[in-house]
Amino acid sequence: MPLIHINDKPIEAAAGQTVMQVAVANGIYIPYFCWHPALSNAGNCRICMVEVEGSGLDISCNMPVWEGMKVYTESEAVKEQRKLIMQMITLNHPVDCGICDKAGECTLQDYHFAYNGEASVSHEPKVRSTKFHDLSSRIVLDNERCIVCSRCVRFTREISKSNSLGIVNRADHSMIRAAEDKPLENDPYSDNIVDLCPVGALLSRDFMYKARVWYLKPTPSVCPGCERGCAINIWHRKPEWQLRGLEARKNTCIERITPLENPAVNGPWICNKGRDLARTFERPRALEPMQKGKVVTQAEAEKAAAALIKAARRPVALVSSWGSDEELAAFADHLAARFDCRVKPDCRPEPDEILEDELLIRADKNPNGHTAKARFGDRGPELPADADLVLVWGEGRDFSTLPPQARIVFLNAWLAPENGHADVFIPTTIQTERNGHYTNFAGVTSAFEACFPRAGNAVDAEAVFGRIGAALGGAP
Ligand code: SF4
Ligand code: SF4
Ligand code: FES
Repeated sequence: MPLIHINDKPIEAAAGQTVMQVAVANGIYIPYFCWHPALSNAGNCRICMVEVEGSGLDISCNMPVWEGMKVYTESEAVKEQRKLIMQMITLNHPVDCGICDKAGECTLQDYHFAYNGEASVSHEPKVRSTKFHDLSSRIVLDNERCIVCSRCVRFTREISKSNSLGIVNRADHSMIRAAEDKPLENDPYSDNIVDLCPVGALLSRDFMYKARVWYLKPTPSVCPGCERGCAINIWHRKPEWQLRGLEARKNTCIERITPLENPAVNGPWICNKGRDLARTFERPRALEPMQKGKVVTQAEAEKAAAALIKAARRPVALVSSWGSDEELAAFADHLAARFDCRVKPDCRPEPDEILEDELLIRADKNPNGHTAKARFGDRGPELPADADLVLVWGEGRDFSTLPPQARIVFLNAWLAPENGHADVFIPTTIQTERNGHYTNFAGVTSAFEACFPRAGNAVDAEAVFGRIGAALGGAP
């Protein structure tokens, strides 16, 4: 355990650690562009220079510690060197921050302000390069903003292993390009490079020019795209920046989704499907309770559902694998004993979807099937032929496969033709409208939080189960 000093503070480091790792672990900030804790060291941006007593200036991200080492991160020599490095890195930068999506969360902006703060000293014309080069249908590269830190290249080599990116040409003509025989298009984790890029060179086509980040806030959530249950941030407009008249829909829409680092589940990454959750959550919603397609009040719908359950001789429940831990517990507590319960996959893989891989993606495309099966068993989709009532909770079941004589109570969040065919239909909230938890296949429980108000007259399934159970007089 080498004892080192950083800025005269004694620190016990672990053997083999770099100065950068020791600094990060002890809350000492050293600037970096190319270094990333989950990637190999490239050591090419040079902004992490520190001064080591007796050996001068060197980069901290690739410097192992040794016993008695004395490191200074803010000496005059370090400050002067950082300033020179910032001038060199921004030498050919177009300084188009006003239209750049990264503005507000760009380390190049922050470091220029913190360590340089002066206009360019160069009298040479800037080296121009291509703007808006499509690396894939999802990602656009602005070559002029690229500082060639190589984080994106290393990600595709070391994490997603698609080997899709490389650097062509040399010096200030260096450019990131996609390999022709290994297109970035086929990398299901490609959008992580947009987050990884320390500047505004890699842009998400989906988020491009949609919002300035300082108008947005992240709400912690869980991706329901598969049973991994990756931790995510759902970005949406801050309440204090709500639009009053213009484009009110922007107040309740998902602007982007990014990973929320969770070492126990997804580390710092998510797959592209997780980025596209707006396509799932922003589908048209079911807004009103109904009986046989006729709009009724929620109380009338619940009363009718309770009467059907009470009268049934062979009731079956198809339990949602998108139900939260709380909803599954409420169903178990209030209603499950009255039903023959089967866990239903609400979602199945799309035809062109990657089924599973070794990094994150799992074959079960539902977030809580594991928990639901632990509670209600793992039986097949076949229903007893004499079932006279089916409670269908969530989407994913074709009504034509239900026993024809069965009455149907249907809880669903989305607009669907089946809603009007059910004897009783109850519109439910989705996870962006309520708090809850999912427990993934490995037994890790993650929380999600509400970020939007409820749509229409949608109600929480958890409360519905409690009320119907009470109307039936508690446990049978
Ligand atoms: S595109 Fe971004 S992540 Fe890739 S090398 Fe350039 S600056 Fe680094
Ligand atoms: S791996 Fe699964 S849970 Fe994670 S982001 Fe992708 S679809 Fe969502
Ligand atoms: S962060 Fe150390 S050289 Fe880039």
